[in-house]
Amino acid sequence: MDFTKKVPFFNLKTVAVFGATALSILGLNGCAPQTPVAIVEPSVPVVQPATQANTTPESTTVKNLISAYNGESNAHVMYLAFAQKADGEGYKEVGSLFRATARAEAIHRDNHAKVIQAMGGTPKNNIATPVVNSTAENLTQALKGESYERDTMYPGFIKEAKQSGNKAAVQTFNYALEAETGHAKLYTTAKNNLASWKQANRPLYVCPVSGYTTLEANSKNCLKPFEKVS
Ligand SMILES: [Fe+2]
Ligand SMILES: [Fe+2]
Repeated sequence: MDFTKKVPFFNLKTVAVFGATALSILGLNGCAPQTPVAIVEPSVPVVQPATQANTTPESTTVKNLISAYNGESNAHVMYLAFAQKADGEGYKEVGSLFRATARAEAIHRDNHAKVIQAMGGTPKNNIATPVVNSTAENLTQALKGESYERDTMYPGFIKEAKQSGNKAAVQTFNYALEAETGHAKLYTTAKNNLASWKQANRPLYVCPVSGYTTLEANSKNCLKPFEKVS
């Protein structure tokens, strides 16, 4: 979505002062079946007013966004490589899981990029060539990365963004945190039931707004229709 065309007046202060409006404009308006305001306002308290200092491209919030953008970019590439390996080893459903999570990481990457650009920053990544091992080992590595994002990285980034009053950053980090939490659960289940994941061939469903990933075809946890990944 090219928000710059729809919002020609968009600038740094827009994010800071009109955070809730910016969230709606950016399309970061939630995967739960509520209105954007209902989702954002109760969960995103403004700890301190946004100032010019924390809405510049050099701010800690933007640096964190760029770091997350780089991480999501690499995770996307790595999971696609892991999917190919899983397919080759006959773990078709694990392949679907890695393709679904790769799609989710691309959604996070793109969500983060929109906020970085709205803040006047430039998304930058450095894509490393993935190290691919056995599917069992790949699941262990993937779980380690998701656990770090769930327990350390995103909670820290969310705390800082809240303190800076940057609601758009809080929202995109929250979407990622929710999705990574789900990814960790799915990887754990696959890792502990690898034999059965070789037999089954269920599709997965990815929310195009937040990257929320599920095996439940009837999940309502997305404002838009889920994308089916197999
Ligand atoms: Fe992610
Ligand atoms: Fe993830």
